[in-house]
Amino acid sequence: MILTLIGARPQFIKAAVVSKAFLDSGIKEIIVHSGQHYEEKMSQVFWDELRIPHPFANLNVGSGSHSAQTAQILVGFEKIILELAEFPEAVLLYGDTNTTIAGALVASKMHIPVIHIEAGLRSFNREMPEEINRVITDHVSDILFCPSDSAVEQLKKEGITKNVFNVGDVMYDSFLAFSAIATKHASIKKLVGDLKDFILLTLHRPVNTDKKENLEQILSSLGQLDSKIIWPVHPRNRANLNKIALPQNIRITEPLTYFEMLLALEECSQVITDSGGLQKESYWAKKPCITLRDETEWTETLVGNWNQLAKDNNLLEKINIKPKNAWSPLYGKGDAARQIASITKKLLAI
Ligand code: UD1
Repeated sequence: MILTLIGARPQFIKAAVVSKAFLDSGIKEIIVHSGQHYEEKMSQVFWDELRIPHPFANLNVGSGSHSAQTAQILVGFEKIILELAEFPEAVLLYGDTNTTIAGALVASKMHIPVIHIEAGLRSFNREMPEEINRVITDHVSDILFCPSDSAVEQLKKEGITKNVFNVGDVMYDSFLAFSAIATKHASIKKLVGDLKDFILLTLHRPVNTDKKENLEQILSSLGQLDSKIIWPVHPRNRANLNKIALPQNIRITEPLTYFEMLLALEECSQVITDSGGLQKESYWAKKPCITLRDETEWTETLVGNWNQLAKDNNLLEKINIKPKNAWSPLYGKGDAARQIASITKKLLAI
């Protein structure tokens, strides 16, 4: 039995395809929700829309400081494992959140093999909580599924070579599988009306959004753009947004479901974001992306200017630079989940 721990929005999207691949290959999986994301629109809608198997338990940790959140997951997840009727053959974790690192610490200290999906990614910026989470998780993992050759290379530089596999990105699997059915189940008509040529914006990194001045500066640059901007707002921004005058060209909305996000990606002309996942999704949707960060873990997307790093002060300049390379697939073929299931089955002999 594989015990999976997930808790944040992008992890639901990734788990949807992997859980299905496990089911298809007869691997038993038990899913635990840490409760890191807990609001209906940040959590339940994804479980429903993507038909993720019902979680066995929800630790309901909610919000808190990094230490408080991580500590609560540590205690809660260990307790769940001790109470399980069956000891897990491995613990499966995704990405770089506080849920990921907590799961990695619990499992490795209980001598349960750790499987890490999205291994080997680095921003080399240790001020990002996610970077610490990635590095530590990779170093206690036993099976590491990377999305690219550069991630495999990075692990090698850090001395990690055993059971490292480049299978591509499971998010590409999700993108392909769910783009094909999104229009059948969702609509963004209410959101965009007859708008053509809008920019899709997401912002949630602490460095961009936690200080009112930083958020204000970014919004003021965005206010100078000619296009309309649609911004599904992450709950962490709500408090600050109440104190800021929003530029006229920005229309804010509640967080989107995954299907709505895929449709918005299809309709928009350009993406501006500080998310990791959306950088890749805009590439796969063949939409130019501006990433409001100093660095990215997804360096392949930068080639040919499909994705460009920018700050509020050079955003206007970067937005006029168009991609100069023809589009070619990145991060695998969309069969990462199937490969993960088959390798896992073989390695764990389950
Ligand atoms: C987390 C991940 C980040 C990931 C993102 C995806 C960490 C360190 N960060 O960031 O890597 O890209 O998820 O969205 O794990 N909040 C709510 N309701 C919710 C969830 C959050 O109001 O359902 C608010 C709370 O004020 C909370 C804040 O958002 O304090 C931040 O949430 P948290 O889960 O700690 O981090 P994210 O910014 O979502």
